[in-house]
Amino acid sequence: MRKAICPGSFDPVTLGHLDIISRSAKLFDKVYVAVLKNSEKKPLFTVEERIDLLRRCLTDHANVEVVTFSGLLVDCAKTYGAAAIVKGLRAVTDFEYEFQMALINKKLNPGIETLFLNTNEQYMYLSSSVVKEVARNGGDIACFVHPAVEKDIRNAIIKEMKEKEIRK
Ligand code: PNS
Repeated sequence: MRKAICPGSFDPVTLGHLDIISRSAKLFDKVYVAVLKNSEKKPLFTVEERIDLLRRCLTDHANVEVVTFSGLLVDCAKTYGAAAIVKGLRAVTDFEYEFQMALINKKLNPGIETLFLNTNEQYMYLSSSVVKEVARNGGDIACFVHPAVEKDIRNAIIKEMKEKEIRK
């Protein structure tokens, strides 16, 4: 069975992430979407919430499973028997960091390959940070995220802004 791992912070999951996961699911028999715990000091969503959002977006992907990990990605890949790490590459600016990570991961575990899928051009500019920035400033995020989670993201931003207001 060919297994792959799609890692990330997914705070929150975007259509760009889902595109990479869907395409990976066509290439591999099983895909583990691995959510990094404690990736950001102040994430918008807890790990449990991020998992829930991902699962709701991926209900029609029978060979995709959402899991969490802490520590090294290669160790997580080994735990799940994944021979490949799949990452999306948006632009040249992503390349240097991703190339460095791929080389480090190769050094840490030579048995695990990193594969890069070029991001669909319609998602070239998209990131979780952009989604949060647009939502915080009252913009429409419908074209950036899955409809199943759009409301949750908007509500989380409203909650975050209210909490900031209270702390003032
Ligand atoms: O969505 P992100 O934040 O770009 O995802 C980054 C992620 C989770 C892929 C990366 O931070 C990661 O692999 N973290 C685990 C620690 C690790 O193995 N680092 C590489 C060797 S230093």
